[in-house]
Amino acid sequence: MRAFVMTELTGPSGGAEADVPEPVGAHPWADGERLLIDVHAAGVSFPDLLQTRGQYQHGSPPPYVAGGEAAGVVLEAPPGSGFRPGDRVASLTVWGALAERALGIPRYTVKLPDDFDFVSGAALYLNYATAWFSLHRVNFTKGEDVLVHGASGGVGTAAVQLVRALGGRPIAVVSTSDKARVVREAGAAEVVLSDEGWVAQVRELTGGLGVPVVVDPVGGDRFTDSLRCLDVGGRLAVVGFAAGEIPTVKVNRLLLRDLSVVGVALDPYVARFPEMARTLAAELERLAASGELRPLAGHVLPLASAREALELIDTRRAVGKVVVTIR
Ligand SMILES: NC(=O)c1ccc[n+]([C@@H]2O[C@H](COP(=O)([O-])OP(=O)(O)OC[C@H]3O[C@@H](n4cnc5c(N)ncnc54)[C@H](OP(=O)(O)O)[C@@H]3O)[C@@H](O)[C@H]2O)c1
Repeated sequence: MRAFVMTELTGPSGGAEADVPEPVGAHPWADGERLLIDVHAAGVSFPDLLQTRGQYQHGSPPPYVAGGEAAGVVLEAPPGSGFRPGDRVASLTVWGALAERALGIPRYTVKLPDDFDFVSGAALYLNYATAWFSLHRVNFTKGEDVLVHGASGGVGTAAVQLVRALGGRPIAVVSTSDKARVVREAGAAEVVLSDEGWVAQVRELTGGLGVPVVVDPVGGDRFTDSLRCLDVGGRLAVVGFAAGEIPTVKVNRLLLRDLSVVGVALDPYVARFPEMARTLAAELERLAASGELRPLAGHVLPLASAREALELIDTRRAVGKVVVTIR
């Protein structure tokens, strides 16, 4: 089968399209359960980029097929998994999706509504699961303001849409006016630019109080400034470090204003509380079917351009999700 194969961990340039054998057995994260997917579109995200440099905690040694999530049609499904051959699905693969066939992880797979095309499907699971779980971890409740960093990115656009869908007010932070336009279309109620005194603007937008919730996939300086614009009792979800630097926190800042900083890592949580994967899948299927989630695929490229897909993320040019079509 055709696939985009990473042969060395030197970034996107370490990969190329090649012929490789079809996957055998089950995905290593699937407890021996073989869920084989005929891939129509693959989602490419920041963790895929980190993997190309050996910087991701769940990477695979080279040579490996890149691509963290797949949308397509089930070819083989384990009995009792809830999936059958012919089902249209979106599945987290962690790696392996940039190929004609991929192994999915049943607990991180959802059925696609009929009106969801495969490009949208490839943009569904990782970003919306991460955004939903972030909001769950900080006990988001209807009516709350949520400040979203990296808001025009993959996780960011998903968080903006979800906050809207769940009855909150998304306030987006982005770096350029082009990205501001994108994030407004995604549903942001307010947009502030990261280089224009965004902390003061957020205070102004919240009557001087600050926001109750921050979703932060960016890290770096944003993190400390985010603590400054949380309301008393505010909660910050630590999602990732797209800016590169892992920030530190002086815990007196938390003590003095009753702040909480909460980690967001789905897989260890599901290992400890397996029902969370089912709850999350049911919620994503419900929200997708309701029409409230419309993934923003900002870039759609063919398999022959998979390297460029990764480079878009590497050079901070990606808006929304980067999707690679396989057929
Ligand atoms: N915890 C989890 O379960 C989980 C799941 C998925 C992803 N993640 C992590 O979340 C982060 C975002 O992932 P994503 O897929 O949303 O990425 P993305 O689509 O590339 O978006 C990242 C955003 O971060 C902002 N950013 C700020 N500084 C940046 C820099 N130096 N380089 C690149 N981007 C920068 C950019 O927005 P502006 O230009 O507007 O600032 C960009 O839109 C990554 O660290 C990823 O590993 C975590």
